[in-house]
Amino acid sequence: MKIAMLGTGFIARFYADSLVAHRRSDILYSVYGRSADKAKQFAADYKLSHYSTSMKDVINHPEVDVVVISLPNDLHLDAVKACAAAGKHVLCTKPLGRTAAEAKQMLDAVEAAGIMGGYLEDLCYNPKFLKSLASVKAGALGRILWAKSREAHPGPHSNWFWNKEQSGGGAIVDLGCHCIEIARNFIGKDIRPVEVMCWAATQVHPIDAEDNAIGMVKYANGAIGQFEVSWCFRGGMDLRDEVMGTEGTIWLNNFLRTGFDMFSTGKGGGYVAEKAESSSGWLFPVGDEVNELGYNHMFTDMFEAIEAKREPAETFYDGYVVNAIIDAAYASAKSGVWEPVKLDDWRGSTDTKIASEFAVYDEQYYLIKEEILPHGDKKLILKDKITGEVIVRDL
Ligand SMILES: NC(=O)c1ccc[n+]([C@@H]2O[C@H](COP(=O)([O-])OP(=O)(O)OC[C@H]3O[C@@H](n4cnc5c(N)ncnc54)[C@H](O)[C@@H]3O)[C@@H](O)[C@H]2O)c1
Repeated sequence: MKIAMLGTGFIARFYADSLVAHRRSDILYSVYGRSADKAKQFAADYKLSHYSTSMKDVINHPEVDVVVISLPNDLHLDAVKACAAAGKHVLCTKPLGRTAAEAKQMLDAVEAAGIMGGYLEDLCYNPKFLKSLASVKAGALGRILWAKSREAHPGPHSNWFWNKEQSGGGAIVDLGCHCIEIARNFIGKDIRPVEVMCWAATQVHPIDAEDNAIGMVKYANGAIGQFEVSWCFRGGMDLRDEVMGTEGTIWLNNFLRTGFDMFSTGKGGGYVAEKAESSSGWLFPVGDEVNELGYNHMFTDMFEAIEAKREPAETFYDGYVVNAIIDAAYASAKSGVWEPVKLDDWRGSTDTKIASEFAVYDEQYYLIKEEILPHGDKKLILKDKITGEVIVRDL
C-alpha cells in the first residue's frame, strides 16, 4: 500500500520512523505540511515521491491508498471527512476527537464511505502490553477486578496542546485517552463503561485546562479502570500499568525502567528518550522507542486489517468509546459526582450483572483466605455458606 502522511511534526516523524523501518512493503509516498519547507524536508528525510501544502491534493493523489492523520486534535474531523470523500482508508492518531460528538461524526463518515478507520492507539500495541493482554485473555489473572494505567510527563512539546480550544482539554484528553483504552482492553472491550468519577486540577501551568487528574471508570461487570495523568511530573515520561485479577497480577513499566540504565557526566549530550529532562547523571534510555511504544505492531495490524478486510485491534469505534469516557470524566471533575458515560451507539454486551464468584472450600464453607504464618503454621479462614459465621481453622 502507498501511504500519505498529514502533518510533519513530532508524531508524524515517529510514525515515519516506523513506516520506513525493517524493509516494510508498505511505502510512505506523500506528505502534507502547511509549510512547504517542512513538507519538503520531511519528504527528503524519508525519501518520499511527493509532497504538497494542499491536504486535499495529498489525500486525493491517485497513488495514495491510505492516509495517516498526524495533525493537532482540532483538525482530525475535517481530515477524516476529506478521506471519506476521497474513499481512502484512514488511520488517525489519538485522541480520535476532542469530544465523543466529534468522534461519532468520524465513525459515521468512515462507515458511510465503506473505508477502514484505524485508531492509532500505539500503547495498546507495545510488546509488553500485547503479551500481557494475551495472558489476561487466556485467564492467567482470573477475573479482572481493577486495571490502572498512568502516563505522566512534564508537559507537551507544541503550543496547540496548551490551547484548550484546539486540543479539547489538558492531560485527560491528551494522556488519559491512552490510559483509558489500556484499562478497557484488560477489563474487556465487550464490557460497557458505565460511569466515571474524576478529580482534575490546574496545579502548575497558567492554562485553562487541567494539568493533573485522576479518574475511576466503573464497568458494567463491577470492574474498575483507573487513570492517572499529569503534565506536571518531573523526571521523564512515566508509563506504568497494573492489572489485578482474582488469580494474578501484572505490573508493567514501559519507559522509565526498561532494564537499560546509563550514567553520563553529560559529555556528548543530546537525545536520551522521549520527554527525558536531562542528559547527565543516571539516565534511563529506551532501546528502540518506536518498537517499545508499539508503533511497529500497530501499523502491521492496520495494514493487514485493510488487506484482509477485517477490523484492526483498535478502531474508530474504540476511539469513540474512549472520547465518551473522557467526556464523562470532564463532567465529573466539574460536578464532583459520578457521571454517566453517554454512548448513543453501544455495540458490546448489554449484561449488567456484577460478576462475583466465591471460592468454595467444601459443601459447608466458602474459602476466604489461606496463609502460612512466619513460624510455619497454616491457617484457613472459612465462611459458613448458610449461617454466615466466619471461622479459623489451624492446619
Ligand atoms: N503516542 C501518540 O500516539 C502521540 C504522541 C504525540 C502526539 N500524538 C497526537 O498527534 C497529533 C499531532 O501531535 P504532534 O505531537 O505531532 O504535534 P506537533 O505540533 O509536533 O505537530 C503537528 C503538525 O501539524 C501541523 N499543524 C499545526 N497546525 C496546523 C494547521 N492549522 N493546519 C495544518 N497543519 C497544522 C504542524 O505544522 C505539524 O506538522 C495530535 O493529535 C496528538 O495528540 C500522538
